[in-house]
Amino acid sequence: MNKVFLLIVTLLALSSVALAQSEMAHARTDVFGSSSCMGCHGTSAMGGLGPPLAQTKLTEEEFVKTVRKGKGMMPPTPEAMLSDQDLRTAYAEVKSKPWDDTQIPLAYRVGSMLSTKVVARIFMVAGILSLLLSLWVLRYWVKLANLGKLRPALKRFGVGKAAFVFIRSLFVDGLFVASLWRTNRFRWAMHGLILYGFLGLGLADILMQINDPTRAKLPMDHPIKVFAVICGASVISGVFYVMFRYKTDKYVDNGVTLGRDFLFVNLLLHSIFSGFLTLTLSRTGAFTWVMPVYIYHLLTVLTLIVSMPFTRMNHIFVVPVMAGLTAVTDAIVKSGVEIAFDREPSPGRHHKSVAIAESVLKQVDPESAGEFRLRYYP
Ligand code: HEC
Repeated sequence: MNKVFLLIVTLLALSSVALAQSEMAHARTDVFGSSSCMGCHGTSAMGGLGPPLAQTKLTEEEFVKTVRKGKGMMPPTPEAMLSDQDLRTAYAEVKSKPWDDTQIPLAYRVGSMLSTKVVARIFMVAGILSLLLSLWVLRYWVKLANLGKLRPALKRFGVGKAAFVFIRSLFVDGLFVASLWRTNRFRWAMHGLILYGFLGLGLADILMQINDPTRAKLPMDHPIKVFAVICGASVISGVFYVMFRYKTDKYVDNGVTLGRDFLFVNLLLHSIFSGFLTLTLSRTGAFTWVMPVYIYHLLTVLTLIVSMPFTRMNHIFVVPVMAGLTAVTDAIVKSGVEIAFDREPSPGRHHKSVAIAESVLKQVDPESAGEFRLRYYP
């Protein structure tokens, strides 16, 4: 028993010495293959996160200078990490490596087209498209609210005053979600996780753009980065709560939008999660995966932006506008400038629906007639 054990230990020791020796021999003849460069430039120097280096057209001096100074997403490599001599050996190695098109990773091909400028342009086009589609969707809802019939009354009420009521409602009902605050504080907070998390992410994005357009230099503990991470975590928690509600609330399915609701929630989850994953991968040095995950992240965010007007997410602009129109109609009715509204309050249908619901409740349950609140779509 003991002898067998000793034999195994001896064999293990011998083999590890042999391994170490072969590695040392390896290191001397293959600096590139055993350096950190390989992680980003690929095992055969045909690219990864960074460009291919095989058959490089750079001179030795340019090569050394680039590596010592760093470039774009590539951090500088000091002498302590890689001696000048080794670096020059690495240059000779990659220079003599064969150029093999088939070895260029797809992620690098796609990634090399995605400069900051190109990405910004793609997002601008997607943003404009999304805005136009949103206006189109909004037009449908505003038409249903019968804004045309409200117009004559608006003049008598005062357009300026109406604008004030409308804008005030955008903040109170839209941004601060007063209706949820009044009825259910918990759900208000859950809703806030997504709404305010999202707004925070947008704000962080703008601040980052101002602070450092290349976004390469911001350290992880920079206040803007920390703020963005907190907002992202907030949105993710909110999304999980929404998923939980879809599982447990039997009234959540309105019979029309369930599929689109799922699309929106899943796109949101994937885009935020892949964003976090991209950050984590590049911080932990798993460079092979950074570009594929980053491309996936861009694709999910793009899909989210363009599909937004047609998913449940459209309530971020439909609800505030409808609530604003309702507030204007209510104010007009209250002011009494339009007596027709007392008999037939058609514009801003909410007012009418409330009146009908009130009279129905008076019949079936007089005690609770005064204490109900109608929810409007969506
Ligand atoms: C974190 C990933 C990463 C590591 C590690 C890395 N690089 Fe890079 N490298 C890049 C990226 C990304 C670029 C492209 C930068 C740009 O053009 O904006 C690049 C560019 C270069 C260039 C310039 C290529 C050209 O044609 O302009 C050279 C040379 C280079 N790297 C050599 C090296 C060497 C040698 C090492 C190892 C000491 C190394 N890199 C390590 C990511 C990396």
